[in-house]
Amino acid sequence: MHSIHNKNIIHMTDLDLNKKKVLIRVDFNVPIKNNQILSDDRIQASIPTINFALKKNAKVILMSHIGRPKEGQINHNLSITPIVKYLKKIFHKYNVYFSKSLQHVPIKPGELLILENVRFNIGEKTNDSQLSKKYAELCDIFVMDAFGSAHRKEASTYGVGLYAKIACAGPLLVSEINALTKALQNPQRPMVSIVGGAKISTKFQLLKKLSMISDIVIVGGGIANTFLAIDYNIGKSLHEKKFIPLAKKLRARNNILIPVDSRIGTEFSDKSIAINKKPSEIKENEEIMDIGNKSIKKITQVIQTAKTILWNGPMGVFEFKNFSIGTRKLAKSIAISKAFSIAGGGETINVINMFDIKNNISYISTGGGAFLEFAEGTKLPAIHMLELSKKKHNINNTI
Ligand code: 3PG
Repeated sequence: MHSIHNKNIIHMTDLDLNKKKVLIRVDFNVPIKNNQILSDDRIQASIPTINFALKKNAKVILMSHIGRPKEGQINHNLSITPIVKYLKKIFHKYNVYFSKSLQHVPIKPGELLILENVRFNIGEKTNDSQLSKKYAELCDIFVMDAFGSAHRKEASTYGVGLYAKIACAGPLLVSEINALTKALQNPQRPMVSIVGGAKISTKFQLLKKLSMISDIVIVGGGIANTFLAIDYNIGKSLHEKKFIPLAKKLRARNNILIPVDSRIGTEFSDKSIAINKKPSEIKENEEIMDIGNKSIKKITQVIQTAKTILWNGPMGVFEFKNFSIGTRKLAKSIAISKAFSIAGGGETINVINMFDIKNNISYISTGGGAFLEFAEGTKLPAIHMLELSKKKHNINNTI
């Protein structure tokens, strides 16, 4: 396991873990239905970290949240037990235990203990200091490895690190920071960013930041529609009027690639027939659900010129077969590109899985909101906590 060193934080891989109680905050927030794990990408991403700690003879404790339950109540649908079952299979050579409580559970070196969903605990969301201390008391070393939750200032992602004897970054968190930093600071040029999807308001900040650092930004979905709405009446198409002034400003930078044609339908359903139209031809009862042929040609050409690609969001309603071609062509184009490509966000991961291009993307982030906030340039609370811990450690070691 090798990674670029971040001198502002302590790395788990640099510490002596032998016989230590090592509490690792992972992000196992994965979709679960009827006790079945529907996507295990995030769990898989944490396996090397857990393996590393077990092989170093640590007493390993894992904690994660799942979903957004009401604190103080056990919601069986959001229990971590299906993941415990999953991990028992993977780590069958080790003793694996599960605990519902935060009482000290004695485990031996080279054993694994998994705690119940942290969001059942009162005070988790509010970063309560009592709860944070309880977590900290469970361990000698706290490891923050949940990049997907690094934008949350909660007791298990932030507070615990303030009270733990030592708080460090796990290998997954470090590789996420490294990959994103590589794409965002000093990228190989040309850098092409792609911002699409339906969540317009949460993505305009990202778009603003990316338009400053990218050579070209390709827009799709509701974001692209908001740009089209500057000049055209786009019927029922998803867009947000309040972002039109910002879209106008960004367009003036001349590096935003706005679709020149779209696939439109008359009802939001997979039965709807797709018709290719220019924005000026869209009628009141029609809605854009994908990019059109000319736009596909243009964006795939642009992608092939890129040396760095940062991708968040689909081009249209890719879940509907008739409106999936724009996103599919975009995905395939990124997959065959020789650029350093980084992708993140829940919808983007779904696209990657749907078109089976996982092995052709240089780095797939486990972060949704965390990926967006990091890319926007926000200092994530968990990273701030790790920097504080490093400073505290330096001071203690020099006195
Ligand atoms: C995510 O899925 O983005 C993370 O696990 C964070 O989940 P949250 O948005 O419920 O805090």
